[in-house]
Formats: sequence, C-alpha cells, structure tokens
Amino acid sequence: MRINELFFILFVLNLKDFFYRKKKYSIDTNGVVTKKSFSNIALIKYWGKQKNKIQIPLNSSISYSLEDVYTVTRLIYHLKERKKRNFSVRVFFSGKEENRFIPKILEFFHRISFYCSYLRDFHFVIETENTFPHSSGIASSASSMSALALCIMEIERKLVSSLKEDFFLRKASFLARLGSGSACRSIYPGLVVWGIHKSIKGSNNLYAIPYPYQVHPIFTEMVDTILVIDEEPKEISSSKGHQLMNNNPYAKERFKCAHKNMERLISILKVGDLQDFGELIEHEALSLHAMIMTSHPYFLWMKPNTLNVLYKVWDFRKQSRKNIYFTLDAGANVHLLYPIQEKKFIMKLIDNDLLSYCKKIIESFCK
Ligand code: DP6
Repeated sequence: MRINELFFILFVLNLKDFFYRKKKYSIDTNGVVTKKSFSNIALIKYWGKQKNKIQIPLNSSISYSLEDVYTVTRLIYHLKERKKRNFSVRVFFSGKEENRFIPKILEFFHRISFYCSYLRDFHFVIETENTFPHSSGIASSASSMSALALCIMEIERKLVSSLKEDFFLRKASFLARLGSGSACRSIYPGLVVWGIHKSIKGSNNLYAIPYPYQVHPIFTEMVDTILVIDEEPKEISSSKGHQLMNNNPYAKERFKCAHKNMERLISILKVGDLQDFGELIEHEALSLHAMIMTSHPYFLWMKPNTLNVLYKVWDFRKQSRKNIYFTLDAGANVHLLYPIQEKKFIMKLIDNDLLSYCKKIIESFCK
C-alpha cells in the first residue's frame, strides 16, 4: 500500500478502526462460520479502476442485489499450533476440492491481511456453493467474494465481542471490494451504491453503502429474469477489461456520462418514472459494451442471440407498451428488468419469443 493511500484511509476517512492488531485470541481453536451473499446486477456500471491504487473505481456505480442468485460459504478455521507467516487454505466448490481458486484467494488474503492480521494464524477450509448453475456465465465473483468477506468478519466478531452491526457490514464491504470491486455492493440488499458521487451522501470509494434516498415503491418490486445466452467462460476477465479502460480513447467521456447518469437516476428513482429508468439502464448497458468494443485489444461480448433478444424486447415494448427493459453485464447474457406487476405478460413473451435464443433462464427478485 502506498503512503498516500494509507494516509487517505487513516486520516481522511478515519478508517483506522478497520485494523485488527490484537495478538492474543479469545476464540475456540476450531470452528466454522457460514454466510450467504447475493449476486448483483449494476444499473450504472463500474468499469475502470484508478491507476496504481487497489480496487478504486473511476466512477460511482449502483446495483440491485439479486435475492435468489447467491453463494453460500462455510469457512472452517483451525488455529495453527505454530505461528507461520504463510496463509493456509483449501477450497471446495460444490463438494469438490478446487485448487484453481487458490491463487485468487491467496491474493485476496494478502490484500486484506493488513486489516485482518489474524488470517495468518489459522488453517482455513472454504466450502462454497452457488444457487445458480455453475456454467451459466453468471459472474460469481461478487457473491463468492462477499460471502467470504462476511465469513471473515464473522470470525472477527468472535475476536471482538463488541463489534457493532454497521461496522461489521461496512468492513465486510471494504474487504469484499479488495477481492472483487462489484462484490462490495453484494453485502447489502436492495439498491447499493459504491464510489464517490457528489450527490450521494456517504458515498465513497472504499466500501459500498445502501442507497440512502427515497425510492418510489415501483422500484422496490422489480424482477430480474436472466436469459443465459452463453455458458462458456468469457474470453477476457473483468479485471483485464477494467485495465483496458486506461488506454480507451473514449474513457474520459464514459466516466462523465456515468456520473451524469447517476445524477439522473437519483430523480428517476424518486419519482418512479419507469420509462426513463429503462432508457437509462439500456444506455448504460450499451455504453459498457461500447467500451470493450473500442478498447485495444477490442472484444465483442454479445452473441447473435444477444442481439436477437434485444431486438425482440424493443419490438415487444413498442407493441405492448409494457415496461420491460434490459441490462447486460460483462458477457453475452441479458438481464430483463421489469416490475412484478408485469410478470405474467413478460413470462408469456419469454416462453413464446425468447426461450429459443437461450440456454437457460434464472429468475430473481431485486431485493
Ligand atoms: C461489468 O467487480 O468483476 O459487472 O473488481 O476486477 O473483480 P474486479 O471486477 P468486477 O467488475 C464488474 C463489472 C461489471 C459492472 C458492475 O458490476 O458494476
């Protein structure tokens, strides 16, 4: 960590509480903690990180947590007999030992050990499962990193009995961010903001906060139907994609636009204007894809069936005047967002017109 970042954390944001430095433990030497954490879908997208900083976004983002799309993680801990400097961790995914996740977890432990000095003193076994199908192309890093961060905080709660709930969640979000940026938003249900925005009180780059303003009831009952178009892992990871923003010729305009879109969204959420909401989230989704298409090297995440679905959604909306809108994440899959009242019609549209373009469908409430 650079000196200026440390200074920023300690003094500007007064986050010195995030450090855990006690050496003696009043904790059972063996134990297990279990946590569940949601996936999320961003309405205003996080795409681009500040250079030479760890997981600091270049624009603020906001997402809905997805109630039915989640990860459950069990973290089994065992105090080491002799203190050693290295981390000790084994990972099981859906019951099977998976060594391919170890490097990412070790990097995560390394990043957060500054704030959780106790990590080196335990052997850990991580057992994790997702509710969503393994090969669905649904990003699992947000739900898995946030579930792991929550488990670690649960251990810290055993070490510090006076830990307050809001601190617990704030630090969990802070830690989750260091595993995967979007994971910091998964700590909270509902609408969640990450990244400094001048119009959002309390917003900051180090952890996410629940959206702090009035939300029209229509936006508290939204459904996300995920149309899985492609089950293959992406050709390019999100982390690499973020890096490509550093040399993207349109990056500056994109960050300005994301900032303005957040400003617009605040009033849309308040007044409950679904059409403006839809126009804004579709614009955001296409802007994200425009960024990857104009990076060097360039990529195209959409597949022919992604486009087939988008055109059908636009046609259906024109004909029926129903409020159905799409957003996209970093891949070919389409998230259809609509109010719960429209569910019957939309399911008909999906069954009749969209199902043939999809490998599978995953449904969730945005809660
Ligand atoms: C397109 O959070 O996966 O989903 O911080 O490198 O782990 P890392 O990236 P990640 O990026 C998510 C990008 C996105 C938009 C969003 O969720 O805001």
